[in-house]
Amino acid sequence: MRAVIAEKHGGPEVLRLAERDAPVPGPGQLLVDVAAAGVNFADIYRRQGLPPYAGDVPYVAGLEGAGTVAAAGPGTDRVGDRVAWTDVPGSYAEQVIVPADRAVGVPEGVDLEVAAAVMLQGMTAHYLSSGTYPVARGEAVVVHAAAGGVGLLLTQMVTRRGGVVIATTSTPEKAELARNAGAAHLAGYGDFGAVAREVTGGDGAAVVYDGVGRATFDDSLAALRRRGYMVLYGAASGPVPPLELQRLATGGSLYVTRPTLVSYITTRDDLVHRADDLFSWIEQGTLAVRIGGRYPLDQAARAHEDLAARRTTGKLILLPR
Ligand SMILES: NC(=O)c1ccc[n+]([C@@H]2O[C@H](COP(=O)([O-])OP(=O)(O)OC[C@H]3O[C@@H](n4cnc5c(N)ncnc54)[C@H](OP(=O)(O)O)[C@@H]3O)[C@@H](O)[C@H]2O)c1
Repeated sequence: MRAVIAEKHGGPEVLRLAERDAPVPGPGQLLVDVAAAGVNFADIYRRQGLPPYAGDVPYVAGLEGAGTVAAAGPGTDRVGDRVAWTDVPGSYAEQVIVPADRAVGVPEGVDLEVAAAVMLQGMTAHYLSSGTYPVARGEAVVVHAAAGGVGLLLTQMVTRRGGVVIATTSTPEKAELARNAGAAHLAGYGDFGAVAREVTGGDGAAVVYDGVGRATFDDSLAALRRRGYMVLYGAASGPVPPLELQRLATGGSLYVTRPTLVSYITTRDDLVHRADDLFSWIEQGTLAVRIGGRYPLDQAARAHEDLAARRTTGKLILLPR
């Protein structure tokens, strides 16, 4: 079977397609024929060797996908099931081993490509909007990079909770996608703070969801209302330098958190209930999943380049077959 391997840490050029023996499922494991693998920023950080994402080399890239169970190890019996997963290494491949307790069933009404596209970013948007800061009706919420993978899903989820989204994007085309996802106000990276003040009568936003990081962090803090929440969940523009805590006092008793998906999926129940919400919203037609790019397996490097260069919208997936 074919898989995308990184022999060492580095740029996109370290990714190459290789022929490997088909893995054999052990106890509690499933061998899955991959229909689609999700491309994520975490894959880029891992490839670059950035802590805490760095791991051993060589490795098979990717950690998210969906497909059909081809074989099951002792103690499991789900052959033929349609399943999806996140946080499972080796997903950029024709076949992958998925621990049975990490695999969620995909309902018939959800396409496998869509399932692969929504696992990591959808669950992230889910925990950010309902767990990290449970958005309440009428609250002003800044969503950065709102036309991106997490951004489009988060904009929809905040909107369905009654939040008023102030969306940042870098182009008119991306702004239009954010508007279609429910954003009430469109802003650029230079003026979102002013927009947040204007639409709240001077108070500021209840929460800023910031996956951009270094480029936006300071203005994001300044856009918050008294006791507002700064949710720094990523670093697409680079990591944020150390923070002088006194700034939280002068900003009006602010909160800062740096959440990760793994701390919000600590049990099988967490995984299943978040996935169930996503799949049922998709089946009802109340959550749109935009697949902004489909790439063959041998184009994984190009997918990484496009994502890092801000050329993409929505989700990128790899199609092994
Ligand atoms: N903590 C978690 O649990 C978690 C989970 C998933 C993802 N994340 C993080 O969420 C962020 C978004 O991930 P994603 O996969 O959904 O990516 P994405 O939003 O689809 O792509 C990143 C977007 O960020 C914006 N951006 C602004 N400045 C940028 C810069 N200097 N370089 C690159 N992009 C820049 C771009 O949108 P514009 O062109 O509109 O500015 C770009 O399209 C990443 O930081 C990722 O690490 C965190």
